[in-house]
Amino acid sequence: MRSFAPAAVLLVASARSALADFYPGVIATGTMGITNPPQPSLGTMINQTSVARLLSVNSIEDFCIFAPPYMANISDSETFEVAWCTQPRNNARVIPDGTLTGVSFLKTSAYVQVYGYGDFTKLNIPYGDEGGELDPHGAYGSGNPIGGNVTSNITGADENFAEWMLYIDYNQFCLRVCTSANSTYSAAAMCWHELDEMGCGFVMPGNYNYNGTFETCDADVAYPPGWYPTATVDGTTLFSTFAQYYTGVANGQSYTVGDTVTPTAAYFTPSSSNCATTATVSNGIALASLGITSSASGSTASVPKLKFEHSSGGSSSNGAAGSASQIYPVVTFIALLSGFAGIALFH
Ligand SMILES: *[C@@H]1O[C@H](CO)[C@@H](O)[C@H](O)[C@H]1NC(C)=O
Ligand SMILES: *[C@@H]1O[C@H](CO)[C@@H](O)[C@H](O)[C@H]1NC(C)=O
Ligand SMILES: *[C@@H]1O[C@H](CO)[C@@H](O)[C@H](O)[C@H]1NC(C)=O
Ligand SMILES: *[C@@H]1O[C@H](CO)[C@@H](O)[C@H](O)[C@H]1NC(C)=O
Ligand SMILES: *[C@@H]1O[C@H](CO)[C@@H](O)[C@H](O)[C@H]1NC(C)=O
Ligand SMILES: *[C@@H]1O[C@H](CO)[C@@H](O)[C@H](O)[C@H]1NC(C)=O
Repeated sequence: MRSFAPAAVLLVASARSALADFYPGVIATGTMGITNPPQPSLGTMINQTSVARLLSVNSIEDFCIFAPPYMANISDSETFEVAWCTQPRNNARVIPDGTLTGVSFLKTSAYVQVYGYGDFTKLNIPYGDEGGELDPHGAYGSGNPIGGNVTSNITGADENFAEWMLYIDYNQFCLRVCTSANSTYSAAAMCWHELDEMGCGFVMPGNYNYNGTFETCDADVAYPPGWYPTATVDGTTLFSTFAQYYTGVANGQSYTVGDTVTPTAAYFTPSSSNCATTATVSNGIALASLGITSSASGSTASVPKLKFEHSSGGSSSNGAAGSASQIYPVVTFIALLSGFAGIALFH
């Protein structure tokens, strides 16, 4: 063995570790969507008519979500949502100050997850819209929105991640970006995108009792959406998988896939810890003084049927402050699960 100067070795090692060693399926290998800048960058010009579709999910102060470019239900605009960011970045639109009323930013070893409450009529989602689910797959295989891309620097440098999912309606969203994987949990499984009728609380279990607070926490890793442990054999956990019930017609034949019994909750709710709170999330940009008015918030009296059920048991008071560890009870799953693992849905 030859010996190297320690300083040189360290330099090489740190440059490599920032980029390398992602499990297959974690990093996006395709090209960037055509409406997007080539790289994520902070401090781009404010353009509230931008059609850029590049999210960055870096911190509670610096993240983006997709929402419509003009007033439209999510289900009508899935293919052409645009990026809205807390900071001017990625040539995207900025989220007007006062839109967000509570945000929980969770870092885990497998994904980064952001939950938010707010008035998303300011992001062109009509009052009462039940919303929907966005992901990098979609009917055309090029994402919903088409060419939508997601980066995070949570692993040490900006990376384009292949798998993510965003559920958003007029007053709540939840977003998960899968930043690592292993032989048990692929990024595709941990960001599983075919449970669009289930709510945030099921697909991304966690503490939903944060409206009014802005917190950043570490969190344990959830089971992939719809996975339930059934047994442990030779130290390996076996799972059953819930598939959303779906009927459709293909080649003139009707078919049914999925489970007829829909579970009411994820198997367990991961604990979060090391929470730090911030007063609010704000970019301080006076959009009105720049001659930009946010879209009319036209609240109507219609009572929405909410898709985003909060997991029960989360009603304990949420101090959410400082370093208090937050432990949430294991939700016992009682419905019967039939073994439909592995059946693909045709949408
Ligand atoms: C951009 O998104 C498309 C559609 O999901 C994907 O195929 C591609 O790999 C992504 N590219 C980057 C650089 O993230
Ligand atoms: C804002 O974005 C739109 C859509 O991408 C683009 O057509 C327009 O030129 C941009 N405005 C400026 C001032 O760059
Ligand atoms: C959204 O959907 C509702 C219910 O279908 C409909 O009444 C409403 O007009 C839609 N809003 C927009 C802006 O398209
Ligand atoms: C990631 O982005 C945040 C927020 O913009 C920034 O403060 C931080 O320095 C960045 N981290 C890395 C490792 O680049
Ligand atoms: C994969 O990651 C999960 C969550 O971090 C962990 O529980 C599991 O043991 C890991 N599996 C392997 C094979 O390392
Ligand atoms: C969150 O808090 C805001 C401000 O108090 C409130 O207007 C809004 O209705 C709350 N959202 C939900 C979903 O409870």
